[in-house]
Amino acid sequence: MSIRTLVNPNAREILDGPYPDRTPLRFHRRLPGYEETPLVNAPEIADALGVEKVFVKDESSRLGLPAFKVLGASWAVYRALEERLGDEGFGDWEEIEDLKARLEPLRPLSLVAATDGNHGRAVARVARLLELGAKIFVPEDMAAARQEAIAREEAEVIVVDGTYDDAVERSAEEAGERGLVISDMSWPGYERIPSWVIEGYSTMLWEIDDELERRREGGPDLVIVQVGVGAFAAAVARHFRNSLVSPRPKLVGVEPAKADCLLESVAAGHIVSVPGPHDSVMSGLNCGRPSLVAWPTVSAGIDLLVAVDDEPAREAMRLAARSGIVSGETGAAGLGGLLELLRAEEGEEARRTLGVGERTCVLLFNCEGATDPDAYRRVMAE
Ligand SMILES: Cc1ncc(COP(=O)(O)O)c(C=O)c1O
Repeated sequence: MSIRTLVNPNAREILDGPYPDRTPLRFHRRLPGYEETPLVNAPEIADALGVEKVFVKDESSRLGLPAFKVLGASWAVYRALEERLGDEGFGDWEEIEDLKARLEPLRPLSLVAATDGNHGRAVARVARLLELGAKIFVPEDMAAARQEAIAREEAEVIVVDGTYDDAVERSAEEAGERGLVISDMSWPGYERIPSWVIEGYSTMLWEIDDELERRREGGPDLVIVQVGVGAFAAAVARHFRNSLVSPRPKLVGVEPAKADCLLESVAAGHIVSVPGPHDSVMSGLNCGRPSLVAWPTVSAGIDLLVAVDDEPAREAMRLAARSGIVSGETGAAGLGGLLELLRAEEGEEARRTLGVGERTCVLLFNCEGATDPDAYRRVMAE
């Protein structure tokens, strides 16, 4: 079992820049099937970690899909379409039918995305809701179950000979009058849509605040976030690192050892790519390079980075199941990383930085349910 940790020498208490308000939350509330996802109090997990309390924001069912990603995809699609519509935008609207009607002048139009699973499926779902086309580019090693799930959203699935990063490059070529690229990854010249993806994730964070307030609970001391290209981590860092939050929790990013691009980039002090193959079972995190728009926020907003092998994620899936939480490999990666950090000999400096102890309250994200059901059954049977 191995673990790598990096205490971020550039971590800051408060981040500059605009903090997203509740506009994305108000947008999501108008989508069909919107419901707040559960914030699970998980004493069995707290016992396993030796801390006082653990809350798990359970995103295994979000707007009918098994991951939180649709929050970012739907908000980014909405903003990008509004921009294409020009001055009038969408105007006042109540429900999805109103949006569909206003899109007439733009048809035929396809939404385009590259994905290692959940983002592409989410973009395909939003396209289906709006009766637009969808073209989703996937890396060649994506599990069949995940590809089929995207195809079931009536999307055209295009398998790219290469990695997720190759699929991103290929998808970018589709941009044009009939193709609108909705990527959670960003590069020079393609920054606005990925920053809307990050904004869209804020809905989940406002829901956590609201639920803790309803329960008269304080905020967490420690927040663990899974890192692929870093868009999710950027949303979490923005939320907990703004001047209005007090006290501000420590933030930990967890990556697969085989795709630890944020850890390597923070160590280098600038964005670097890590070579493939990126073939961790935590497939949502198999990214070789952090996103340009996420980088300023995550490089200053995350206190500590942890890179782990696959086994802790599988162990965490089983532990989560004992608390009634259905967690896929990516969903359990945060818990797996924390379990490993708290028991690893080389984690001592990290633990001191975080000040974890028996009074600590931890917030985890089950950001994905069982997106590969056969793999899920195998892990549960082990
Ligand atoms: C379920 C899930 N969680 C976390 C992530 C990581 O998010 P990001 O790529 O924004 O770091 C992904 C990415 O696809 C994902 O699908």
